[in-house]
Amino acid sequence: MHALALIHFLVTVAALFGAAAKRDDSGKLVVAHVIVGNTYPYTIDNWTSDIQLASDNGIDGFALNVGPTPGSRIALLTLSGFDLGTRPRPTSGSLQALHVVRHDGPVLYASSDAATLRNYITSYATHPNQLLVNGQVFASTFSGSDCTSARVFCQGWNSQFISQLTGQNAVHFVPSFFSDTSAYSEFDGVMDGTFNWNGGWPVSLTVQSAQSAIQGLGSALGDATFTAQLESVLNSSIGTFSTDQTYISALNAVSGDSKTYMASVSPWFFTHYPQSSYNKNWLYLMDNQGYNTRWETLISNRDSVDIVEIVTWNDYGESSYIGPVEGAQPQGTTWATGFDHTGWLAMTKYYATAFKTGAYPAITQDQLFMWARPHPKDAQASNDGTGPPTSYQLTEDALWAVAFTTQPATVALTTGSGTTQTVDVPAGVTRLSMPLTAGAGMAATMTRGGAAVLSVSPGADAFTFNPNPQTYNFNAFVAYATANGTTS
Ligand SMILES: *[C@@H]1O[C@H](CO)[C@@H](O)[C@H](O)[C@H]1NC(C)=O
Ligand SMILES: *[C@@H]1O[C@H](CO)[C@@H](O)[C@H](O)[C@H]1NC(C)=O
Repeated sequence: MHALALIHFLVTVAALFGAAAKRDDSGKLVVAHVIVGNTYPYTIDNWTSDIQLASDNGIDGFALNVGPTPGSRIALLTLSGFDLGTRPRPTSGSLQALHVVRHDGPVLYASSDAATLRNYITSYATHPNQLLVNGQVFASTFSGSDCTSARVFCQGWNSQFISQLTGQNAVHFVPSFFSDTSAYSEFDGVMDGTFNWNGGWPVSLTVQSAQSAIQGLGSALGDATFTAQLESVLNSSIGTFSTDQTYISALNAVSGDSKTYMASVSPWFFTHYPQSSYNKNWLYLMDNQGYNTRWETLISNRDSVDIVEIVTWNDYGESSYIGPVEGAQPQGTTWATGFDHTGWLAMTKYYATAFKTGAYPAITQDQLFMWARPHPKDAQASNDGTGPPTSYQLTEDALWAVAFTTQPATVALTTGSGTTQTVDVPAGVTRLSMPLTAGAGMAATMTRGGAAVLSVSPGADAFTFNPNPQTYNFNAFVAYATANGTTS
């Protein structure tokens, strides 16, 4: 098994950041998916600072994606002084509980693996920061339904996992099974809810599906930027609730008084491993500020959503992270270092708060966020045997920006010398975009009544839209600034 496959066969765990954050059964939660394998160099201090950062930005807990064998990546954590094999020390702010996990169906048949999964539950069941739902240990998975027959597979989960965890160890099981939702009756007695992992991205939007939708629109996917018409056709697939609705309806086939629907939100997706390693080379289109759109969708459908899982905190290999780039990355990951995403984290609190409370909070600080890919979509990388990622044609060579403003203001975006777009924006959240210029960078200012409010200026060393890249990189570089204290 490849190392990355291992990561992806891992489990999902949820740890809440404080007893006060423990979910009461009517409350809504926002958690972020953490690939524990990528944290193996972490010290307790690194965990503490990540937890603080997440908590400061509206995230209630981490969903810890952990592997089947304690001897592998978990042991590496132990080496760094954080022992997941025993109950975490009750250090203030330290990592707390886990919920579990997913597994590959056949793997589950190895009783030692099932025992490992059960051990994750029993080790943390009574920890004060374990997420409980209906008094049961909340457990989720990434996958776990990959086996020849849903029935056989369910028997495995049932006999090896659910039915062996009783009393204080009983689980509220909300897996992400990538199986046909029309067969959910097979999961009766196994699932207490479902997690729609792929719901955050328009996974069905492909070059082929787009081609038929955009015929006659007078611009083509080959263009660097699209007409408003074409853009809006693509945009209409991003951030929707359609697969969520399918999953929620499918849960009707599962019995239970208190079923949990967990939705996913993700800012981005690009992965680029050659056939000789993990053989993954594609993107999902998240242009048009898709992260913002998806959050707005989840907020307007919040009556149907119990928990939102941000996918992810630190999956550098799939470019979906909103946490800092730190810790470790899978071998061959060349596209994350230098590509900060914490602007998306800073944007998260506003949406997470709206999801949990039902009302968008007042904007109390002026902020400006902007992001872009580092090279034109049609650039020919000079030293990349893997080729451009599947679906790259759907992207636009655009700078995407979002302004959070306390009062009306003027925003000027610059993507090259003499290439500035100036827009008067109302108070609130405003989306902006403009074409990028090959060889130039990105910068922005916000002014009000002629006075400077903030500026974002990452500089050419941090970001240049490079027409001659060595390797393909469809990850985003995110810059941002907050009035009274600038970051980028
Ligand atoms: C994309 O769709 C979202 C949701 O409908 C909308 O808010 C946004 O303005 C759209 N963007 C563009 C460029 O059409
Ligand atoms: C852990 O935190 C220290 C102190 O902030 C930092 O220097 C180090 O790079 C971090 N380590 C990792 C693996 O992120």
